[in-house]
Amino acid sequence: MFVTLCFASLIVWCTAERQNFLLIIVDDLRTTLGCYGDLKAYTPNIDRFAAEAAIFSQAFAQQALCAPSRNSFLTSRRPDTLQLYDFYSYWRKDIGNFTTLPQHLKSNGYITKSIGKVFHPGISSNNSDDNPYSWSETPFHPFTERYKDAPICQTNEQLLPARNLLCPVKVSLMPNKTLPDIEILKEAKNFLSNQAGNSPFFLAVGFQKPHIPFKYPKKYIKYHPLQKFKVPKPYKWSDNVSSIAYNPWNDLRKRKDVAALNLKFPWEKIPESFALLIIQSYYASVTYIDNLIGKLINHLKKLSIQENTVIMLTSDHGWSLGERAIWAKYSNYDVTLKVPLIVSIPGLTYKKSKTNTNVKDSSGRTQTFINSIVELVDIFPTIADLANISIPICSNETTQITCSEGITFVPLIRAALKNETISWKKAAFGQYPRPSIEPSIHPNSDEPCLKEIKAMGYTLRTNKYRYTAWLSFDSKSKLSNWSNIIAEELYDHNNDEGENRNVAFLEGYMKLKEKLKILLQHGWRNVLSDELNL
Ligand SMILES: *[C@@H]1O[C@H](CO)[C@@H](O)[C@H](O)[C@H]1NC(C)=O
Ligand SMILES: *[C@@H]1O[C@H](CO)[C@@H](O)[C@H](O)[C@H]1NC(C)=O
Ligand SMILES: *[C@@H]1O[C@H](CO)[C@@H](O)[C@H](O)[C@H]1NC(C)=O
Ligand SMILES: *[C@@H]1O[C@H](CO)[C@@H](O)[C@H](O)[C@H]1NC(C)=O
Ligand SMILES: *[C@@H]1O[C@H](CO)[C@@H](O)[C@H](O)[C@H]1NC(C)=O
Ligand SMILES: *[C@@H]1O[C@H](CO)[C@@H](O)[C@H](O)[C@H]1NC(C)=O
Ligand SMILES: *[C@@H]1O[C@H](CO)[C@@H](O)[C@H](O)[C@H]1NC(C)=O
Ligand SMILES: *[C@@H]1O[C@H](CO)[C@@H](O)[C@H](O)[C@H]1NC(C)=O
Repeated sequence: MFVTLCFASLIVWCTAERQNFLLIIVDDLRTTLGCYGDLKAYTPNIDRFAAEAAIFSQAFAQQALCAPSRNSFLTSRRPDTLQLYDFYSYWRKDIGNFTTLPQHLKSNGYITKSIGKVFHPGISSNNSDDNPYSWSETPFHPFTERYKDAPICQTNEQLLPARNLLCPVKVSLMPNKTLPDIEILKEAKNFLSNQAGNSPFFLAVGFQKPHIPFKYPKKYIKYHPLQKFKVPKPYKWSDNVSSIAYNPWNDLRKRKDVAALNLKFPWEKIPESFALLIIQSYYASVTYIDNLIGKLINHLKKLSIQENTVIMLTSDHGWSLGERAIWAKYSNYDVTLKVPLIVSIPGLTYKKSKTNTNVKDSSGRTQTFINSIVELVDIFPTIADLANISIPICSNETTQITCSEGITFVPLIRAALKNETISWKKAAFGQYPRPSIEPSIHPNSDEPCLKEIKAMGYTLRTNKYRYTAWLSFDSKSKLSNWSNIIAEELYDHNNDEGENRNVAFLEGYMKLKEKLKILLQHGWRNVLSDELNL
């Protein structure tokens, strides 16, 4: 039964009680979670949350870099539309005054608040997290963020300061005896305590770990003994793949402990013994964030607003944990483009306790896996749909201010809960820029700035294949040239989930490759309704 609220004002409206939204964005989180079947993960809180939620197993980011991905999903526009592939332009100034997800909710009566890393800080959000357009209140950033790169990691037991990649710490020895993500949790709890009972809210909470450096409370290591980890096999750069697809993890090389390995740029591999420590610290950082997320959700429960709050958990992109001997994002593979996406909708993915009286299953729990392809640009139209303020798909001709380059995935969740499968978009699109074919430090081929970009890798992921074409790119016109394909990759997920074997040049795949190439070239609109069996 819905609680009905009626307001008499200039606009008279009656509606069901409006739901709150909590969007949790975990920086650089791939699907290393128990609920995704990762046996090495220790994420009891997220798993418990996922037990009452829809879990998307095929959710993809549009670019494996923070600022382009975040601006993309917060506006529901693709990197090519925002023409943001680096950190250095602001869409409102340079492209169009596009409405963001929080802005749309704000202008429809929601209190909107940003806590932690939601927009990427800096020029790409006008040094303000797109305030005041997107937010009702000033965005919050933790005080101790200023120690992000400070030399405060302890090496061994000697308390030597170092700018390390691996940086498990004792929180009590840290500046202000805290860490940024702990401050973020505290602020989010404060916000919720003050909001309960007021206007509906949209709260975006952006946790910073497991982004490097792996600075996290050392107590979380105990869940991750080194013996359980192995480097991915094969631990090497793939054969038959152009170097343009490789990213040399320059940001890791700058860290003191990695620099001390004296690795020859760009191909010398991180020794397996050190590689295992990286994997361990990544998983331990994830367990740390899992703990904070558990506390956040418990706080919603304590305030009795969980049953009136849609919760979405996702990430801006993934991270290579040694696959192809790479350690970073900055690429066009599943490990960097696939993200966790877990959505809990009261009364839909689980039964509300108040309305539970005639339900036989007293737990009211339904964990639902959805294997259809979804993209981060779908989040905005989905939340708008759930809030009953849906937005149209952007047309190709006009410069609409409020529209979406994704589609609401609410119908997928409804169908999955009824055990039905419905026809859905057939592919996810992504892209990544490069300054050159061979990896370099200057320009930084992991993160080239716009004027350095000479090539763009476009990638398409269907349920069974990933096809990538690297094209020449003109940074002045921002156009790619389909008549100038520098390299191609094709991975067959039927027998190569790890995307280790490029079959783009095998005779048996030629026809398929040509079809996928046309799909990629025609772009995202073309795959929304077509009955394609790829
Ligand atoms: C959704 O909005 C429409 C008008 O746009 C209104 O008629 C309808 O009652 C609303 N539904 C809910 C559940 O609020
Ligand atoms: C960006 O921020 C500056 C300084 O606060 C402000 O003057 C400018 O109007 C903002 N840009 C846009 C497009 O809102
Ligand atoms: C952009 O949109 C916002 C919100 O609708 C509006 O306040 C602002 O004036 C617009 N800016 C420009 C330059 O059109
Ligand atoms: C952190 O410590 C500094 C210096 O000791 C102090 O000025 C600051 O207010 C503290 N910040 C917080 C958020 O506690
Ligand atoms: C937009 O789509 C229409 C119909 O699908 C097509 O005829 C037209 O060429 C497209 N315009 C652009 C600018 O792509
Ligand atoms: C869906 O299928 C599952 C497992 O096959 C079953 O337990 C559940 O009752 C079904 N749900 C519906 C709504 O049919
Ligand atoms: C695209 O590439 C082809 C082949 O290299 C070249 O002939 C053509 O001039 C290029 N087009 C543009 C617009 O640069
Ligand atoms: C790799 O490339 C070589 C030469 O171009 C070719 O003979 C071989 O079949 C390719 N292997 C695969 C797996 O594509």
